Amino acid sequence: MRTGNRSCETGNADRNPRALRALFTAVAARYDFLNHLLSLGLDFGWRRRAVAALRLKGEAPLVLDMACGTADVALAVARRFPWARIVAEDFTSAMLERGAEKIRRHGLRARIFPVLASCEAIPHPDRTFNAAIIAFGIRNVENRPKGLSELVRVLKPGGRLVVLEFSPPGWRLLCRAYCRYVLPLVAGRFSNPHAYRYLARSIEEFPDDARFRSLMRAAGCVKIVQKRLFPGLVTLHVGHRPHL
Ligand SMILES: C[S@@+](CC[C@H](N)C(=O)[O-])C[C@H]1O[C@@H](n2cnc3c(N)ncnc32)[C@H](O)[C@@H]1O
Repeated sequence: MRTGNRSCETGNADRNPRALRALFTAVAARYDFLNHLLSLGLDFGWRRRAVAALRLKGEAPLVLDMACGTADVALAVARRFPWARIVAEDFTSAMLERGAEKIRRHGLRARIFPVLASCEAIPHPDRTFNAAIIAFGIRNVENRPKGLSELVRVLKPGGRLVVLEFSPPGWRLLCRAYCRYVLPLVAGRFSNPHAYRYLARSIEEFPDDARFRSLMRAAGCVKIVQKRLFPGLVTLHVGHRPHL
């Protein structure tokens, strides 16, 4: 079991919602392009595997894509499960607007519904969704225990919660060098370098797998399974709302 690093204990990344909204507003126009560039295209596969982990069954399941950003996950859910309907939520309108435009372009307005909302106050009744997914979002949520318990609250009994997230770098030196120097440098050429410095800090600060598993359990998840998708950098965490 790895232990959390020091910056994880001090929580030095700025997750203040106002600052975060400003930051994601600043990067919205270049978000997709930089995502694919900085991950060398690996992000497509990570999202695909996270979406597959939803394992949707039954007629017209309803899925929540929280912190949906520009809606890549919602679109992937719609493609993989053609009978699913998806509510795509984010608290940054600039990101959500880009997502809504992509949903329109793909002709999926009848199946994907964008909503401006925060993960810490999800505007739906208990037991609404068959499954929920949050990709590269929970790291940014200011009150993670609250965000996770909201995600569990809106799941139907037995529903799945899929969390795709960076993990604190396992290959410490290489990943740290990439996150601290390469990432802001490349991002600075195309977008806002400050935003990508935040991204690097927030990855280093994020709890390791064991601690995140405890957070999921405390939020009410059972049958938690964690899988490293990219050694030492990206983890898929899957949990369930209990049947009772
Ligand atoms: C790194 S992006 C991930 C977007 C998308 N899920 C993806 O896979 O590309 C993080 C998103 O989380 C959103 N976000 C951060 N904190 C949030 C919160 N508390 N509630 C809702 N959305 C939040 C941001 O606005 C941003 O669009």
